[in-house]
Amino acid sequence: MQLGVCYYPEQWPQERWPLDAELMRKAGISLVRIAEFAWVAMEPREGEYTWDWLDQAIDVLAAAGLQVILGTPTASPPPWLCRTQPDILPVDAQGRRRRPGSRRHYCPNSASYRQHTDRIVTAMASRYGRHPAVSGWQIDNEFGCHGTARCYCETCAIAFRHWLEARYETMDDLNEAWGSIFWSQTYGDWSEIDLPNLTIAEPNPSHVLDYYRFCSDAFVTYQQLQLSTLRSLISERQIVTTNFMSQFTDLDYHDLAKPLDLVTMSSYPTGQAEPNPSLYMPQSVRPVYAYDVGDPYITGLGHTLMRGFKPNRPFWVMEQQCGNINWGTYNTGVRPGTVRLWTWHAVASGAEAVVYFRWRAGLYAQEQFHSGLLHHDASPAVGYTDLEAMKADRSLMSEVASAPYEAQIAFLLDYDSLWAIQLQPHHRDFDYMRHLFVFYRALQRLGLPADVLSVDADLSPYKMVVVPTAALTTERFAASLHAFAEAGGTVLLGARSGSKTVSNRFTDLPLPGLLRDLVGITVSDWHSLPPDVSYDLGSGIPGLVGPTTVWAEALHPAVSDSQSRDPDLQVHAHYTSGPFSSCAGLTEHKVGAGRALYLGWYPNGPQAEALLAHLAAQAGVVSLAAVPDGMIASRRGPHLILLNFTEGPLTATVQGRAVLVGPRDVEVVETHVS
Ligand code: GAL
Ligand code: ZN
Repeated sequence: MQLGVCYYPEQWPQERWPLDAELMRKAGISLVRIAEFAWVAMEPREGEYTWDWLDQAIDVLAAAGLQVILGTPTASPPPWLCRTQPDILPVDAQGRRRRPGSRRHYCPNSASYRQHTDRIVTAMASRYGRHPAVSGWQIDNEFGCHGTARCYCETCAIAFRHWLEARYETMDDLNEAWGSIFWSQTYGDWSEIDLPNLTIAEPNPSHVLDYYRFCSDAFVTYQQLQLSTLRSLISERQIVTTNFMSQFTDLDYHDLAKPLDLVTMSSYPTGQAEPNPSLYMPQSVRPVYAYDVGDPYITGLGHTLMRGFKPNRPFWVMEQQCGNINWGTYNTGVRPGTVRLWTWHAVASGAEAVVYFRWRAGLYAQEQFHSGLLHHDASPAVGYTDLEAMKADRSLMSEVASAPYEAQIAFLLDYDSLWAIQLQPHHRDFDYMRHLFVFYRALQRLGLPADVLSVDADLSPYKMVVVPTAALTTERFAASLHAFAEAGGTVLLGARSGSKTVSNRFTDLPLPGLLRDLVGITVSDWHSLPPDVSYDLGSGIPGLVGPTTVWAEALHPAVSDSQSRDPDLQVHAHYTSGPFSSCAGLTEHKVGAGRALYLGWYPNGPQAEALLAHLAAQAGVVSLAAVPDGMIASRRGPHLILLNFTEGPLTATVQGRAVLVGPRDVEVVETHVS
């Protein structure tokens, strides 16, 4: 288990570096990420490299026993490059060529940017690829940040046409897939296809979905360019990664993660957008988190996503908030103990290293108001004093971090479905991730760990799989869920599942389309519910009470040829008011040794909790601990970690025993693993 820090030697006088390195070491830091925004310092003019400062920075850090993660500097092309190659600058959805002057001002499809990228990465990797103090590489920085995942330049338009040609081969196939006869948009030639921005009315959602896929692929290709260059030049001992953002969904992180050695993330708990809380938890039962810790369930979902992008590999937090941020609405100050709590939370969720952002608060430019471990004047800030306090935790923390994280429940996350819902939400509040979050948070509150995996993942280690919205469905996906249920698993499918084809057209099968056989029902109708409309429910599952919000579907047990009801189908909830009265709302279908449930409405928090508690108990998934609101329980190997995110003491019950956890504090309990 390593702790690290992001350091910008190019922003500080060289005489200061040895003292900084010494202070890092004293605080228990062993890893330092540098250089991810230092292109102009490495190459002030085209082809003129200045490595002295970087050589020395690495040497100074190495002399203090620190290891270095080098960032490739491509997130911020220098001014000379933007002047000589203006075509590298991206174009936004409004058709505006974006200016340099901050960062991320490049188009990943630009041929000249790719050439310059390869040049700087080759130069860096040749110089430091065998350096004993360099233990790894971070490619670029937060692909897609600041709304840059999608570029609308002419280069992208041309590349998009090629991408479509490779995908569809013929115009007819594309027209058919997109249904482009609608509004008379049938294409006769690839050259007629444009990027889907600046249209008068909304563009065709099949066109847009393909464009989103294309943009994601462009970054996968761009990352691969760097990765191949690095791998050909660096030692095998050096790992290669990139840093993902916890709540970001514009790029397919499964695809980006695949070729990397490990996944890393940025974690800024107080900067997270609050999902509309009334959707998952009525105000009356919401816990009060300490004001400076963020919503622990959202932070935890971020960790969980990272764990699932590269299953069986621990993730790192490459940027951990260690004081106030500068880009939120209020940028809350942070009190002693909070950075320690966040660090423990990351470790509890499966992190192997936690790297703080940043070492010292900057004296100039955009992030002057962002905290570091040190204040502007280099005196210790709250993050640094927390690190000192954490010294007493470090051996236990390392032990915990080396034990495996295990979950018996998995969510499936599919970016195609996410984007399809985003393009046609049909209800202001129907958001794919937020829908998933309702179930995720319910499991956390029940003390039930869960992973979030791709639809291609191996499901055999799990007892239960939750797919909140499997909007786009393929035969293969339906077959994999079927096989999982056959073998004894529990599948829970949510509203709008099976409604779309891979090209984002509506299915012409009865709903839920290709998933019909699995769940043994049909959906005859669905209603988007305005905030003041809801339907009541009746259910035999304890605590599963109405009303419905957001969305409701009318379910009907499938009827066989002999018109008899399927004996393998049970109705667990039905509507008791409104137009769907007497229709089913939740059903369970016996499939082989397992079962598949279909939930036809968008549940709120208490409903999701009641349902998941019931299903987990039946599936033999045992809660880690009974935890009150605001406490997170997590297990790595025999270590049960209890984290209290509130202002007062809380008690958990672990294997019949009460465990008291102080406010914003942590307890690690040794348990017997059955
Ligand atoms: C991250 C970014 C860092 C820094 C940080 C501030 O998104 O990667 O470079 O800007 O935010 O919180
Ligand atoms: Zn572009």
